[in-house]
Amino acid sequence: MTGFEGTTAVVTGGATLIGAAIVRAFAEAGAQAVVLDIDEPGGTALASELGESVTFHHVDITDDAALGRVRDALTAGPGKVDALVNLACSYVDDGSKSTRADWRQSLDVNVIGTALVTTTLLPLLTASDRPAVVNFTSISGRVAQAGRWLYPAGKAAVAQLTRSMALDLAADSIRVNSVCPGWTWSAVMDRLSGGNREKTDRVAAPLHPLGRAGDPAEIAAAVLFLCSPAASFVTGADLAVDGGYSAIGPERGEILIPQLAE
Ligand SMILES: NC(=O)c1ccc[n+]([C@@H]2O[C@H](COP(=O)([O-])OP(=O)(O)OC[C@H]3O[C@@H](n4cnc5c(N)ncnc54)[C@H](O)[C@@H]3O)[C@@H](O)[C@H]2O)c1
Repeated sequence: MTGFEGTTAVVTGGATLIGAAIVRAFAEAGAQAVVLDIDEPGGTALASELGESVTFHHVDITDDAALGRVRDALTAGPGKVDALVNLACSYVDDGSKSTRADWRQSLDVNVIGTALVTTTLLPLLTASDRPAVVNFTSISGRVAQAGRWLYPAGKAAVAQLTRSMALDLAADSIRVNSVCPGWTWSAVMDRLSGGNREKTDRVAAPLHPLGRAGDPAEIAAAVLFLCSPAASFVTGADLAVDGGYSAIGPERGEILIPQLAE
């Protein structure tokens, strides 16, 4: 994609696989990308790989003072934010055994972080002539998954938060949408599968009609679309980028009715 020349795109959690793919896509499309992440080595490596088009800020999105410093730096710099991608997430989740501290950590990053990064940067979004926010939901926020309570609850909340933001920020012409990925090749999958993409696709296949896990670049393409003028009348939407995961139910395309006659 092109057409992001002269724009500034802020990506929280931009240091890891999916986030970095989004940062790369913004840089390739001509944007100045700003990465906010707690992963210092990852963020620094990405910034040095992509050069002047990327700036890394070592920031914890649950730290209000740090977010205020980012807002001040951006105010003194470009003076506007055209695209904000709220991707940073916490996978802390011990299901029914989760402690109050676990709940607080999970919701602080996944839900409160999404809200407060946006409101902190609101004056800069308002200064843009094409402001767009993209939040991250998940298939995990639409269905129950064994042993997981915190992350799914947070992601479901982000879907609702996106609608609330879309309604209230429309007055400032700020569009707010979310992307809902299916299984996507990520740092966790890389680690758990020992870097085995083929095995990951095989395990993912029955859940996704397209028969594989998604690629970070495919998530990035959806994010850039939502931030582009091509999506100028799209707000409050939760865009599934999930290989058809949410189109199928527990029957998973199996033809079961004939079994009644067996
Ligand atoms: N991987 C998947 O299959 C999948 C599926 C559905 C949705 N998603 C969503 O996609 C997004 C990316 O997922 P991922 O698997 O690449 O995640 P990840 O854990 O690999 O990356 C998250 C990034 O957020 C950063 N981060 C975490 N806490 C932070 C904080 N307090 N402040 C700043 N940065 C922080 C991490 O350092 C990391 O760089 C998430 O929002 C996730 O919920 C992923």
